[in-house]
Amino acid sequence: MVYPQKISATFKGKDLISLEQFDPPSIAKLFKTVPKMAEIAKNARPSDILKGKIITLLFYEPSSRTFGSFSASVKQLGGQTLEIINPQEFSSASKGETFEDTIKVFEAYCDAIILRHPETGSSQKAADAAGFIPIINAGDGIGEHPTQALTDLYTIFEKNQTLEGLTGVIAGDILHGRTVHSLIQGLSLYKNNTVYLLSPEKLMLDRKDYRKFSQSGIKIVEITKESQIPKDVDFWYFTRIQKERFLNSSDYESVKDNYILTPKLIKSYAGNKTIFMHPLPRLHEIDRSVDKDVRAVYLTSQIRNGMYLRMALIALILGQIS
Ligand code: NCD
Repeated sequence: MVYPQKISATFKGKDLISLEQFDPPSIAKLFKTVPKMAEIAKNARPSDILKGKIITLLFYEPSSRTFGSFSASVKQLGGQTLEIINPQEFSSASKGETFEDTIKVFEAYCDAIILRHPETGSSQKAADAAGFIPIINAGDGIGEHPTQALTDLYTIFEKNQTLEGLTGVIAGDILHGRTVHSLIQGLSLYKNNTVYLLSPEKLMLDRKDYRKFSQSGIKIVEITKESQIPKDVDFWYFTRIQKERFLNSSDYESVKDNYILTPKLIKSYAGNKTIFMHPLPRLHEIDRSVDKDVRAVYLTSQIRNGMYLRMALIALILGQIS
């Protein structure tokens, strides 16, 4: 079988591996469902959309936000979760069980597997191993993090009512940031978008990714200095420098804290409509005093949208709504 399958407006039974699977109509369909999920989440009565469904959260890498968001999404819809954290340390995987066997075992217990793994390509590997149930990528190494990017796209859409003709700044660890890779891929599905990628040279996009994204239509401008930030763009998306992806700590020390979103930076370059985003966790790259700025969405709508969007995705993939 050829993976990953295009979504093309039908989500039922599909794996979710990459933003490459999407086209604008599929994203529009997903986005139309999100407000309905928000209503369910805000309602005191539990929904039974996922009643009788068991979803496995198989997380080989640390996560609190994405893990919590997925777990809450399933429960908001009346489903149940099987939550396996660090199987490489605490389960049969620590006894030498292969990854493929682990996937096949959990496939027998549940209706979908949500996977986070430190290796790029592991979600595809899981999808190849699983015969019957969908695999949802919750972050594979430095590869992709499609549900975070869909959340980010939704948050940008909510503000602008379009995903075309936008300009944004994405700052920090562009090389290792899987949420960044998926977000650029997502924006490249729409016309006339431009992203300024602000990072030290060592953390710029991998050249293969640079070529792939550039050919897909999005305009990419790589910058290294804060003074090159264009004024009044639609969004700023700051990210953490991913210490765990560096081979030695001196390389990390040389690039950490290069760019910090401060009130001064906002005053110099942001506009009234610029929103400030971050996939979290944040270290020092956004000054705490920015949190109370009305344009800061990283601790407010961006988080809430993540749960609503995951509710919509799981319900569509399990075919419980259409
Ligand atoms: C990110 C991740 O794990 O890829 N966070 C997230 O899941 N929202 C970003 C990070 O770890 O820095």
